[in-house]
Amino acid sequence: MNLWTPDAYTKAWNFAADAHWGQRVPGTERPYINHLGNVAMEVMRAIAATPTVQQPDLAVQCALLHDTIEDTAVTYERVASEFGSEVAAGVLALSKDLGLPKEERMADSLERIRQQPGEVWMVKLADRISNLQEPPRHWRQEKIRRYRAEAEMILEALGEANEWLAGRLRDKIVAYEVYGET
Ligand code: NI
Repeated sequence: MNLWTPDAYTKAWNFAADAHWGQRVPGTERPYINHLGNVAMEVMRAIAATPTVQQPDLAVQCALLHDTIEDTAVTYERVASEFGSEVAAGVLALSKDLGLPKEERMADSLERIRQQPGEVWMVKLADRISNLQEPPRHWRQEKIRRYRAEAEMILEALGEANEWLAGRLRDKIVAYEVYGET
């Protein structure tokens, strides 16, 4: 079984902690790094369940760095110089293109993720699993329903990359229904 390298994890974890310094998980007081730790944990659990994953460090580093280009001042070039072009390409695919209309961003990102190795697909599945916890209190019903529909779209587009994560995301989508009804 291929497992991740602790030093590769630590380097990406520290980089992400600095990049997201001061940011909070939306709707909570938790530091943003909490989200990244959750996503990495989901990916690592899936790697442990999937002996065929070829590049566990690519998956784990992309998990920890997946929001740096989208949400911080960190550039693609910076990620590439620190972590190599494969990780940077993965993180870029996982970043929404803010130049597009809002409703087109997810489909566009999913299309770009599908051009990346399966390890990058795994990160998007893990990201949505982690985001299907109780929604922030200020979210309206329509937003919650849209978020759930988007999760189904992610599962449909990327689920084939990893059985463990696909099953877990399916369960989370079902469980999330309760928030769309209250
Ligand atoms: Ni995320």
